[in-house]
Amino acid sequence: MPGKVKCIGILTGGGDCPGLNAVIRAVVKDAVQNGIQVIGIRDGCRGLGDKHMAALGPGDGSNILTLGGTILGSSNKDNPFHLIEKDKSGKIHYHDRSRDIPKNLRRVGIEAMVILGGDGSMTVANKLSHMGLKIIGVPKTIDNDLMGTDQTFGHDTAVSIATEAIDRLHTVADSHHRVIIVEIMGRYAGWLALRSGIAGGGDIILIPEIPYDEKKVGEAVLERRRKGKKSSIVVVAEGAHPKGGKMVVDRINPFSAERIRLGGISRQLAHHLEAKSGVETRSVILGHVVRGGTPTAFDRNLATLFGVQAMNLISKGQFGRMVALRNNRMSSVPLVQVGGKTRKVPANHELIRAAKSIGVSFGA
Ligand code: F6P
Repeated sequence: MPGKVKCIGILTGGGDCPGLNAVIRAVVKDAVQNGIQVIGIRDGCRGLGDKHMAALGPGDGSNILTLGGTILGSSNKDNPFHLIEKDKSGKIHYHDRSRDIPKNLRRVGIEAMVILGGDGSMTVANKLSHMGLKIIGVPKTIDNDLMGTDQTFGHDTAVSIATEAIDRLHTVADSHHRVIIVEIMGRYAGWLALRSGIAGGGDIILIPEIPYDEKKVGEAVLERRRKGKKSSIVVVAEGAHPKGGKMVVDRINPFSAERIRLGGISRQLAHHLEAKSGVETRSVILGHVVRGGTPTAFDRNLATLFGVQAMNLISKGQFGRMVALRNNRMSSVPLVQVGGKTRKVPANHELIRAAKSIGVSFGA
Protein backbone atom coordinates (compact mmCIF):
# COMPACT_ATOMS: atom_id res chain seq x y z
CA MET A 1 0.00 0.00 0.00
CA PRO A 2 1.66 3.26 -1.09
CA GLY A 3 2.18 5.92 1.55
CA LYS A 4 2.43 9.60 0.82
CA VAL A 5 6.05 9.30 -0.23
CA LYS A 6 6.44 8.92 -4.02
CA CYS A 7 10.22 8.88 -4.38
CA ILE A 8 12.87 7.43 -2.10
CA GLY A 9 16.66 7.38 -2.15
CA ILE A 10 18.74 4.40 -1.07
CA LEU A 11 22.41 4.25 -0.13
CA THR A 12 24.84 1.67 1.25
CA GLY A 13 27.42 3.06 3.69
CA GLY A 14 30.44 1.70 5.59
CA GLY A 15 32.26 -1.55 4.90
CA ASP A 16 30.41 -3.75 2.43
CA CYS A 17 28.93 -7.12 3.36
CA PRO A 18 26.95 -9.94 1.77
CA GLY A 19 23.22 -9.15 1.58
CA LEU A 20 23.39 -5.44 0.68
CA ASN A 21 22.11 -6.21 -2.81
CA ALA A 22 19.38 -8.45 -1.41
CA VAL A 23 18.08 -5.47 0.61
CA ILE A 24 18.32 -3.16 -2.43
CA ARG A 25 16.37 -5.78 -4.41
CA ALA A 26 13.63 -6.01 -1.77
CA VAL A 27 13.29 -2.22 -1.57
CA VAL A 28 13.19 -1.79 -5.36
CA LYS A 29 10.69 -4.62 -5.89
CA ASP A 30 8.42 -3.47 -3.05
CA ALA A 31 8.60 0.12 -4.33
CA VAL A 32 7.77 -0.93 -7.90
CA GLN A 33 4.68 -2.82 -6.62
CA ASN A 34 3.57 0.35 -4.86
CA GLY A 35 4.34 2.88 -7.58
CA ILE A 36 7.23 4.46 -5.67
CA GLN A 37 10.31 5.62 -7.54
CA VAL A 38 13.73 4.60 -6.16
CA ILE A 39 16.91 6.59 -6.69
CA GLY A 40 20.24 4.95 -5.95
CA ILE A 41 22.85 7.16 -4.28
CA ARG A 42 26.35 6.08 -5.28
CA ASP A 43 29.31 5.31 -2.99
CA GLY A 44 27.66 5.78 0.37
CA CYS A 45 27.39 9.25 1.88
CA ARG A 46 29.84 10.56 -0.71
CA GLY A 47 26.98 10.40 -3.23
CA LEU A 48 24.91 12.80 -1.11
CA GLY A 49 27.52 15.50 -1.64
CA ASP A 50 28.54 14.58 -5.18
CA LYS A 51 24.88 14.50 -6.24
CA HIS A 52 25.92 11.14 -7.66
CA MET A 53 22.44 9.65 -7.94
CA ALA A 54 20.51 7.70 -10.57
CA ALA A 55 17.05 6.14 -10.81
CA LEU A 56 16.83 2.40 -10.16
CA GLY A 57 14.30 0.76 -12.46
CA PRO A 58 12.57 -2.61 -11.94
CA GLY A 59 15.42 -4.32 -13.82
CA ASP A 60 17.98 -3.04 -11.30
CA GLY A 61 16.36 -5.18 -8.62
CA SER A 62 16.72 -8.33 -10.71
CA ASN A 63 19.53 -10.90 -10.60
CA ILE A 64 21.24 -9.32 -7.59
CA LEU A 65 19.84 -11.47 -4.77
CA THR A 66 22.94 -13.69 -4.70
CA LEU A 67 25.46 -11.00 -5.58
CA GLY A 68 27.99 -9.97 -2.90
CA GLY A 69 29.12 -6.37 -2.40
CA THR A 70 26.79 -3.55 -3.40
CA ILE A 71 25.69 -2.41 -6.84
CA LEU A 72 25.60 1.14 -5.42
CA GLY A 73 29.19 1.20 -4.14
CA SER A 74 30.07 2.14 -0.57
CA SER A 75 32.44 4.28 1.43
CA ASN A 76 33.52 4.36 5.06
CA LYS A 77 35.31 7.70 4.78
CA ASP A 78 32.65 10.24 3.87
CA ASN A 79 30.76 11.43 6.92
CA PRO A 80 29.07 14.60 5.55
CA PHE A 81 29.09 16.17 9.04
CA HIS A 82 32.83 15.71 9.34
CA LEU A 83 34.20 15.48 5.83
CA ILE A 84 37.96 15.19 5.75
CA GLU A 85 39.73 16.99 2.92
CA LYS A 86 43.40 17.49 2.15
CA ASP A 87 44.64 20.86 0.87
CA LYS A 88 47.47 21.24 -1.68
CA SER A 89 50.12 21.16 1.07
CA GLY A 90 48.71 17.86 2.33
CA LYS A 91 47.18 19.46 5.43
CA ILE A 92 43.95 17.84 6.60
CA HIS A 93 40.81 19.96 7.09
CA TYR A 94 37.39 19.00 8.41
CA HIS A 95 34.21 20.39 6.86
CA ASP A 96 30.53 20.08 7.64
CA ARG A 97 28.92 19.57 4.20
CA SER A 98 25.56 18.42 5.58
CA ARG A 99 23.76 21.68 4.79
CA ASP A 100 23.83 20.89 1.06
CA ILE A 101 22.14 17.51 1.44
CA PRO A 102 18.42 18.54 1.63
CA LYS A 103 18.93 20.67 -1.47
CA ASN A 104 20.72 17.85 -3.33
CA LEU A 105 17.92 15.42 -2.48
CA ARG A 106 15.15 17.87 -3.44
CA ARG A 107 16.83 18.45 -6.80
CA VAL A 108 16.22 14.82 -7.80
CA GLY A 109 12.87 14.57 -6.01
CA ILE A 110 13.92 12.30 -3.11
CA GLU A 111 11.43 12.67 -0.24
CA ALA A 112 12.71 9.90 2.06
CA MET A 113 15.88 7.83 2.34
CA VAL A 114 16.78 4.25 3.23
CA ILE A 115 20.31 4.07 4.62
CA LEU A 116 21.98 0.66 4.89
CA GLY A 117 24.95 0.70 7.24
CA GLY A 118 26.68 0.03 10.53
CA ASP A 119 27.05 2.29 13.55
CA GLY A 120 28.88 5.05 11.64
CA SER A 121 26.14 5.19 9.01
CA MET A 122 23.39 5.01 11.66
CA THR A 123 25.00 7.97 13.47
CA VAL A 124 24.89 9.94 10.21
CA ALA A 125 21.32 8.70 9.58
CA ASN A 126 20.27 9.96 13.01
CA LYS A 127 21.82 13.38 12.41
CA LEU A 128 20.12 13.65 9.01
CA SER A 129 16.86 12.70 10.69
CA HIS A 130 17.38 15.50 13.22
CA MET A 131 17.78 17.91 10.30
CA GLY A 132 14.18 17.03 9.38
CA LEU A 133 14.90 14.49 6.64
CA LYS A 134 12.77 11.34 6.45
CA ILE A 135 15.22 8.53 7.16
CA ILE A 136 14.96 4.77 7.70
CA GLY A 137 18.08 2.80 8.72
CA VAL A 138 18.79 -0.83 7.86
CA PRO A 139 21.37 -2.62 10.08
CA LYS A 140 24.29 -4.05 8.15
CA THR A 141 27.62 -5.45 9.32
CA ILE A 142 29.47 -8.73 9.44
CA ASP A 143 30.48 -7.79 13.02
CA ASN A 144 26.90 -8.04 14.40
CA ASP A 145 27.84 -5.26 16.83
CA LEU A 146 24.92 -2.86 16.22
CA MET A 147 22.67 -1.85 19.09
CA GLY A 148 18.92 -2.30 18.75
CA THR A 149 18.84 -5.49 16.66
CA ASP A 150 19.51 -9.10 17.61
CA GLN A 151 21.24 -9.65 14.28
CA THR A 152 22.54 -7.68 11.34
CA PHE A 153 22.55 -9.10 7.82
CA GLY A 154 25.96 -10.18 6.54
CA HIS A 155 26.97 -11.70 9.86
CA ASP A 156 25.65 -15.19 9.14
CA THR A 157 27.52 -15.31 5.81
CA ALA A 158 30.77 -14.16 7.42
CA VAL A 159 30.35 -16.82 10.14
CA SER A 160 29.87 -19.48 7.43
CA ILE A 161 32.94 -18.39 5.45
CA ALA A 162 35.11 -18.26 8.58
CA THR A 163 33.80 -21.67 9.68
CA GLU A 164 34.72 -23.22 6.35
CA ALA A 165 38.21 -21.74 6.63
CA ILE A 166 38.62 -23.17 10.14
CA ASP A 167 37.40 -26.58 8.91
CA ARG A 168 40.13 -26.57 6.29
CA LEU A 169 42.84 -25.51 8.74
CA HIS A 170 42.10 -28.48 11.03
CA THR A 171 43.53 -30.91 8.48
CA VAL A 172 46.68 -28.83 7.93
CA ALA A 173 47.22 -28.46 11.67
CA ASP A 174 46.69 -32.21 12.19
CA SER A 175 49.05 -33.31 9.40
CA HIS A 176 51.89 -31.17 10.76
CA HIS A 177 51.12 -31.46 14.48
CA ARG A 178 50.87 -27.71 14.66
CA VAL A 179 48.99 -24.97 16.37
CA ILE A 180 47.20 -22.74 13.87
CA ILE A 181 45.91 -19.37 15.01
CA VAL A 182 43.09 -18.03 12.83
CA GLU A 183 42.39 -14.31 13.12
CA ILE A 184 38.89 -13.12 12.30
CA MET A 185 37.47 -9.62 11.85
CA GLY A 186 34.78 -8.17 14.10
CA ARG A 187 36.27 -4.92 15.41
CA TYR A 188 35.64 -4.53 19.13
CA ALA A 189 33.10 -7.37 19.40
CA GLY A 190 33.75 -11.12 19.41
CA TRP A 191 30.52 -12.39 17.77
CA LEU A 192 32.21 -13.54 14.55
CA ALA A 193 35.13 -15.30 16.26
CA LEU A 194 32.84 -16.87 18.86
CA ARG A 195 30.24 -18.21 16.41
CA SER A 196 32.72 -19.43 13.78
CA GLY A 197 35.08 -20.68 16.49
CA ILE A 198 32.40 -22.90 18.00
CA ALA A 199 30.98 -23.97 14.62
CA GLY A 200 34.49 -24.76 13.36
CA GLY A 201 35.45 -26.76 16.45
CA GLY A 202 38.08 -24.28 17.65
CA ASP A 203 39.97 -25.49 20.73
CA ILE A 204 40.79 -22.04 22.09
CA ILE A 205 38.68 -18.97 21.33
CA LEU A 206 39.91 -15.48 22.20
CA ILE A 207 37.50 -12.54 22.03
CA PRO A 208 37.78 -8.87 23.08
CA GLU A 209 35.15 -9.32 25.79
CA ILE A 210 37.35 -11.86 27.66
CA PRO A 211 40.95 -10.58 27.90
CA TYR A 212 43.22 -13.62 27.87
CA ASP A 213 46.25 -14.73 29.81
CA GLU A 214 49.04 -15.79 27.41
CA LYS A 215 50.26 -18.37 29.94
CA LYS A 216 46.83 -20.00 30.06
CA VAL A 217 46.64 -20.16 26.26
CA GLY A 218 50.04 -21.94 26.26
CA GLU A 219 48.89 -24.29 29.03
CA ALA A 220 45.72 -25.16 27.07
CA VAL A 221 47.84 -26.12 24.05
CA LEU A 222 50.23 -28.25 26.13
CA GLU A 223 47.37 -29.89 27.99
CA ARG A 224 45.88 -30.96 24.65
CA ARG A 225 49.28 -32.43 23.68
CA ARG A 226 49.41 -34.38 26.94
CA LYS A 227 45.99 -35.81 26.09
CA GLY A 228 47.36 -37.01 22.77
CA LYS A 229 45.81 -34.33 20.55
CA LYS A 230 48.12 -33.73 17.61
CA SER A 231 47.06 -30.18 16.89
CA SER A 232 45.20 -27.18 18.23
CA ILE A 233 43.17 -24.50 16.52
CA VAL A 234 43.10 -21.08 18.17
CA VAL A 235 40.40 -18.74 16.86
CA VAL A 236 41.23 -15.15 17.73
CA ALA A 237 39.10 -12.07 17.13
CA GLU A 238 41.06 -9.16 15.68
CA GLY A 239 40.07 -7.11 18.75
CA ALA A 240 41.19 -9.71 21.31
CA HIS A 241 43.96 -8.66 23.67
CA PRO A 242 45.87 -10.03 26.66
CA LYS A 243 44.85 -8.99 30.18
CA GLY A 244 46.27 -5.55 30.80
CA GLY A 245 47.43 -5.39 27.14
CA LYS A 246 46.24 -3.46 24.12
CA MET A 247 44.51 -4.41 20.88
CA VAL A 248 46.86 -4.68 17.91
CA VAL A 249 46.38 -1.82 15.45
CA ASP A 250 47.21 -2.55 11.82
CA ARG A 251 46.81 0.99 10.53
CA ILE A 252 45.35 4.40 11.21
CA ASN A 253 43.19 5.79 8.43
CA PRO A 254 43.01 9.57 8.94
CA PHE A 255 40.30 9.87 6.27
CA SER A 256 37.86 7.58 8.00
CA ALA A 257 35.52 8.55 10.85
CA GLU A 258 36.52 5.21 12.41
CA ARG A 259 40.27 5.82 12.16
CA ILE A 260 41.60 2.61 13.70
CA ARG A 261 41.93 -0.62 11.71
CA LEU A 262 42.74 -3.62 13.87
CA GLY A 263 44.82 -6.58 12.74
CA GLY A 264 47.90 -8.62 13.56
CA ILE A 265 47.14 -10.14 16.99
CA SER A 266 47.44 -13.68 15.54
CA ARG A 267 51.05 -13.10 14.42
CA GLN A 268 52.10 -11.70 17.78
CA LEU A 269 50.42 -14.54 19.62
CA ALA A 270 51.93 -17.18 17.29
CA HIS A 271 55.49 -15.96 17.98
CA HIS A 272 54.85 -15.83 21.70
CA LEU A 273 53.16 -19.24 21.85
CA GLU A 274 55.82 -21.00 19.77
CA ALA A 275 58.62 -19.49 21.86
CA LYS A 276 56.99 -20.45 25.16
CA SER A 277 55.46 -23.86 24.29
CA GLY A 278 57.97 -25.13 21.74
CA VAL A 279 55.06 -26.23 19.53
CA GLU A 280 55.30 -25.21 15.88
CA THR A 281 52.70 -22.48 15.36
CA ARG A 282 51.34 -20.69 12.30
CA SER A 283 48.96 -17.76 11.97
CA VAL A 284 46.36 -16.99 9.31
CA ILE A 285 44.46 -13.71 8.97
CA LEU A 286 41.18 -14.26 7.12
CA GLY A 287 40.67 -10.51 6.68
CA HIS A 288 38.19 -9.29 4.07
CA VAL A 289 37.58 -12.78 2.67
CA VAL A 290 34.73 -13.15 5.17
CA ARG A 291 33.05 -10.04 3.75
CA GLY A 292 32.92 -11.20 0.15
CA GLY A 293 30.65 -13.17 -2.12
CA THR A 294 27.21 -14.72 -2.01
CA PRO A 295 25.02 -14.27 1.08
CA THR A 296 23.74 -17.37 2.87
CA ALA A 297 20.03 -18.28 2.67
CA PHE A 298 19.61 -16.86 6.21
CA ASP A 299 21.09 -13.51 5.18
CA ARG A 300 19.00 -13.39 1.98
CA ASN A 301 15.86 -13.91 4.05
CA LEU A 302 16.89 -11.38 6.70
CA ALA A 303 17.84 -8.84 4.02
CA THR A 304 14.48 -9.33 2.29
CA LEU A 305 12.59 -8.94 5.59
CA PHE A 306 14.59 -5.79 6.42
CA GLY A 307 14.00 -4.25 2.97
CA VAL A 308 10.26 -4.86 3.13
CA GLN A 309 10.11 -3.63 6.75
CA ALA A 310 11.87 -0.41 5.66
CA MET A 311 9.17 0.10 3.02
CA ASN A 312 6.44 -0.63 5.61
CA LEU A 313 7.83 2.08 7.88
CA ILE A 314 7.93 4.52 4.95
CA SER A 315 4.31 3.78 4.05
CA LYS A 316 3.29 4.32 7.69
CA GLY A 317 5.30 7.55 7.88
CA GLN A 318 7.41 6.19 10.78
CA PHE A 319 10.74 7.89 10.15
CA GLY A 320 13.89 8.30 12.24
CA ARG A 321 13.93 4.56 12.93
CA MET A 322 16.12 1.57 12.13
CA VAL A 323 14.49 -1.71 11.16
CA ALA A 324 15.45 -4.50 13.55
CA LEU A 325 15.16 -8.19 14.30
CA ARG A 326 14.03 -8.61 17.90
CA ASN A 327 13.05 -11.96 19.39
CA ASN A 328 12.79 -13.42 15.87
CA ARG A 329 10.28 -10.78 14.71
CA MET A 330 10.59 -7.74 12.48
CA SER A 331 10.57 -4.56 14.52
CA SER A 332 12.19 -1.14 14.57
CA VAL A 333 14.02 1.11 17.02
CA PRO A 334 14.66 4.88 17.12
CA LEU A 335 17.89 5.73 15.28
CA VAL A 336 19.00 7.77 18.27
CA GLN A 337 19.42 4.52 20.25
CA VAL A 338 21.80 2.95 17.73
CA GLY A 339 24.81 5.01 16.64
CA GLY A 340 28.07 5.41 18.52
CA LYS A 341 27.62 2.28 20.62
CA THR A 342 28.95 -1.28 20.33
CA ARG A 343 26.89 -4.37 21.09
CA LYS A 344 29.37 -6.76 22.64
CA VAL A 345 29.11 -10.42 23.56
CA PRO A 346 27.84 -10.65 27.17
CA ALA A 347 30.32 -12.55 29.35
CA ASN A 348 27.58 -14.99 30.38
CA HIS A 349 26.28 -15.54 26.82
CA GLU A 350 24.92 -19.07 26.36
CA LEU A 351 27.41 -19.78 23.56
CA ILE A 352 30.31 -18.97 25.90
CA ARG A 353 28.81 -21.18 28.59
CA ALA A 354 28.21 -24.01 26.10
CA ALA A 355 31.75 -23.73 24.72
CA LYS A 356 33.22 -23.90 28.22
CA SER A 357 31.06 -26.94 28.96
CA ILE A 358 32.62 -28.82 26.04
CA GLY A 359 36.16 -27.90 27.03
CA VAL A 360 36.88 -24.87 24.87
CA SER A 361 39.41 -22.56 26.51
CA PHE A 362 38.96 -18.77 26.45
CA GLY A 363 42.49 -18.33 27.78
CA ALA A 364 41.23 -16.77 30.99
O1 F6P B 1 33.03 -3.45 10.23
C1 F6P B 1 33.34 -4.40 9.27
C2 F6P B 1 34.84 -4.63 9.21
O2 F6P B 1 35.10 -5.63 8.25
C3 F6P B 1 35.50 -4.97 10.55
O3 F6P B 1 35.29 -6.30 10.94
C4 F6P B 1 36.93 -4.61 10.27
O4 F6P B 1 37.62 -4.30 11.45
C5 F6P B 1 36.82 -3.40 9.37
O5 F6P B 1 35.50 -3.43 8.81
C6 F6P B 1 37.82 -3.33 8.25
O6 F6P B 1 37.66 -2.12 7.59
P1 F6P B 1 38.28 -1.80 6.15
O7 F6P B 1 37.42 -2.48 5.12
O8 F6P B 1 38.23 -0.32 6.06
O9 F6P B 1 39.67 -2.36 6.14
